[in-house]
Amino acid sequence: MNTRTPLIAGNWKMNLTLKEAETLAKAVAETATRYTDRDVLIYPTFLQFTQAAKIAQGSRVALGVQNCSAEKDGAFTGEISASQAKEAGAQFVLIGHSERRHILKESDAFLKQKVERVLEQNLMCMLCVGETLAERESGHAEAVVLGQLNAALGQLAPQLWKNIAIAYEPVWAIGTGKNATPDDAQAMHAAIRRRVSELNQDIAPQLRILYGGSVKPDNIGALMGKADIDGALVGGASLKAESFAELVKNAK
Ligand code: PGA
Repeated sequence: MNTRTPLIAGNWKMNLTLKEAETLAKAVAETATRYTDRDVLIYPTFLQFTQAAKIAQGSRVALGVQNCSAEKDGAFTGEISASQAKEAGAQFVLIGHSERRHILKESDAFLKQKVERVLEQNLMCMLCVGETLAERESGHAEAVVLGQLNAALGQLAPQLWKNIAIAYEPVWAIGTGKNATPDDAQAMHAAIRRRVSELNQDIAPQLRILYGGSVKPDNIGALMGKADIDGALVGGASLKAESFAELVKNAK
């Protein structure tokens, strides 16, 4: 994948039957062949991953897993490791999605360990950051987001940055139908890129920063029109072949 080629990622979360996942993966592969100037990525569940990967094989669709363990291997019932994800064909691992931060209480320190596991495998790490509504309303949105960024990536070795993508997802926008305005999203993306450039000046202009939170076919164009928005991480609207195809089409 080229750096800052628009990237549209579908986060399937805990949705779809195996049959539905197979049908959707097929449709996404067809969509990806139509829009060769954009990158397309899907995050199926672990149990559907192998089938989706088989279907996507040879297509332009990249595959990712929604999570991995903070440990390399061992007695961690119910977990899967970054190396297992890689073996199954994953290119990306989503780390720190707000549902894992807030529902499963994953801390910044824990997420930093996961980032390390992902990068050890030379996989792409898509780190999610985002503030809650209370944090935004109290004027702390940027401090919270940059704090999450620092905690996970503040000490990253320079050569590892090429394997990082960031998804800015305001918690209040996820699954609510309320997306951030393109201007508000752009302001946060610019702040993220500024901070990254303090950490690694060379990588900052190439780093892909995706917006996520109620992205739909009718709002993706305005979001993608902003200078620092390089793609979208999409939940609900990625679950239907037609709406995902519209998203990719409108992501210009
Ligand atoms: P949504 O989810 O598009 O349904 O708001 C986005 C996400 O959680 O990644």
